[in-house]
Amino acid sequence: MFVCFSGLVSAQSSTTLDVDASSSVAEIAPTMYGIFFEDINFAADGGLYAELIKNRSFEFDSPLMGWEQPKSDRHSYNKNSGIAVPVKYSQQQTNHNFIRVKIKDASGYKLINKGFRGIGVHENENYRLSFLASNDAGGVTHVHFKLVDENGKVLGSSSVKVSKGDWKKYQTEFNSNATVEKASLEITFSGQGDIDLDMISMFPENTWKNRENGMRKDLVQLLADMDPGFLRFPGGCIVEGRTLAERYQWKKTVGPVADREILFNRWNTEFSHRSTPDYFQSFGIGFFEYFQLAEDIGATPLPILSCGIACQFNTGELVPMDQLDPYVQDALDLIEFANGSVDTPWGKVRADMGHPEPFNLKYIGVGNEQWGPDYIERYKVFNDAIKEQYPDIIIVSGSGPFPDGDYYEYGMEQLTKIGAEIIDEHYYKSPEWFRENADRYDSYDRNGPKIFAGEYAAQSVAIASPENENNWECALSEAAFMTGLERNADVVQLTSYAPLMAHTEAWQWTPDLIWFDNLSSYGTPNYYVQKVFATNRGSDLLKVSAKGEKLIGQNDLYASAVKEDSTSEVIVKVVNTASSSKSIKFNIKGVKTGKNAEQIVLASEDLKAMNSIENPKNIAPETTKVNVQKGVQLSPYSVNVFKLKIEK
Ligand code: AHR
Repeated sequence: MFVCFSGLVSAQSSTTLDVDASSSVAEIAPTMYGIFFEDINFAADGGLYAELIKNRSFEFDSPLMGWEQPKSDRHSYNKNSGIAVPVKYSQQQTNHNFIRVKIKDASGYKLINKGFRGIGVHENENYRLSFLASNDAGGVTHVHFKLVDENGKVLGSSSVKVSKGDWKKYQTEFNSNATVEKASLEITFSGQGDIDLDMISMFPENTWKNRENGMRKDLVQLLADMDPGFLRFPGGCIVEGRTLAERYQWKKTVGPVADREILFNRWNTEFSHRSTPDYFQSFGIGFFEYFQLAEDIGATPLPILSCGIACQFNTGELVPMDQLDPYVQDALDLIEFANGSVDTPWGKVRADMGHPEPFNLKYIGVGNEQWGPDYIERYKVFNDAIKEQYPDIIIVSGSGPFPDGDYYEYGMEQLTKIGAEIIDEHYYKSPEWFRENADRYDSYDRNGPKIFAGEYAAQSVAIASPENENNWECALSEAAFMTGLERNADVVQLTSYAPLMAHTEAWQWTPDLIWFDNLSSYGTPNYYVQKVFATNRGSDLLKVSAKGEKLIGQNDLYASAVKEDSTSEVIVKVVNTASSSKSIKFNIKGVKTGKNAEQIVLASEDLKAMNSIENPKNIAPETTKVNVQKGVQLSPYSVNVFKLKIEK
């Protein structure tokens, strides 16, 4: 392997890329480039999930976390005017708590929610508020909502008359008169006495597909723009839980939203340097919503389930083998939920949620990042049970957290022995590693299991270091590596960067593909690398070489080539990791291509360059027309996609 990362090699020499378009090496799987979603970094609650109220149902470990009851001007203690106290209804299976607001002097009392690091609202947009209230005595007559900015300026307001009586849902809406990143919702009351409140919720009307209980439009759009082949969900370590009791249980995430039992988010205090104790999973985005999202963006759903082992970086708790059945049943029931007819119990749950048609599930993952004999033993049980009932479902297994070493070797060997179909590999490594491993699958056994490069990201400092950056060096190095994934598309069938999303003020793990605050979002350079590969995936893999050899770092160049049948194009991806520009020529065999081509370029001479909320497209693809007859230039440190039309 010829790896360097410098401008020491002459900028003058021209490299000829021989692309053999006379035959297809392999079909490129439609799943080749996909998305890995995990609720880490406020990716779901506080991010993709458009709910604006934090702890809307008072289910956090501290039931009033996220809610404030400031002292009034006239009363030194708020309780002289009113107080909200949490009440636990023990008979309730899931939504256990509500608050009892005791109003003595309504003019002096308010309840405030500041959302997830503030409530982000846009000028002229409509916001829907809803809440549950039980008003037994009927002494409280109205609940007033006021959205204010940080200086107390009113952005929108609405009042709701509450009737005397038992639990009832109320709804109202208002328009925001300004765009504000950190607004607060103030709730006040008219009347006197006790009123019980629960599920105080506020959503923008303008969600993805205008769905109630919807998702943030800008964030889904960024995902849709990637044209992803699959959507893996819900993680990640979140699948496993720190303990088995805290694992992700999909059945608890479907059905009415108010009945989904909240769970703390395992990322909340995982890293002491990025502690986020107010991070919980509301499951407002649950398995139905994930399947629906996958369908919306044209991605194959790829759910990953607990295999009966809690995160081995935490407790590593194991379910005994003779108690594994419920875990296996969860997998079988999930397939029924996704694909079963509406007459089946779980197919009916899906239909009742508004989707009688099947979700067309083809893949299921057993375990996330497990290792050792305990995993293999449990995996076999899942494998047998799933294959017996659903022989066509493809099972994704895992090779552990590292791309090499004992856990990896053992996992690969055992899974290969069992005849596993697709093995998930994770690589969180340095940028150098990515450049040096562009040949990782060149000598991989073609008869072995297929590969899912399920989690990868170049770490500019060290794995999960809070100093890691989504800088150009990382993205460029990932691109070099991806030419290797693509060149081996006969064995590598699914790939995804991880993690996917991060809130600029509430993240735990960096780097991440997409960053957002309460109002806006942007794709990192790494995002654009993913995007240009995914949107130029091609239908067939072609051989590309220079001087008879694969281009895996010689002269700082990396290349892969595909053909896209639907558009009759030869598509060549070339990454230049040198600080100097390079000139290349194409020698296309087997088809005739014209002299003009499209060149998509991602480049920066600054390896430390990044995108940001203020400068979201500092590094973003630019497309130009080029004449490829005389050769073309590759900018220093650049990712290039050439699209050459095949002439009849
Ligand atoms: O992507 C962040 C974490 O990295 C995932 O949850 C886990 O699978 C891996 O260790």
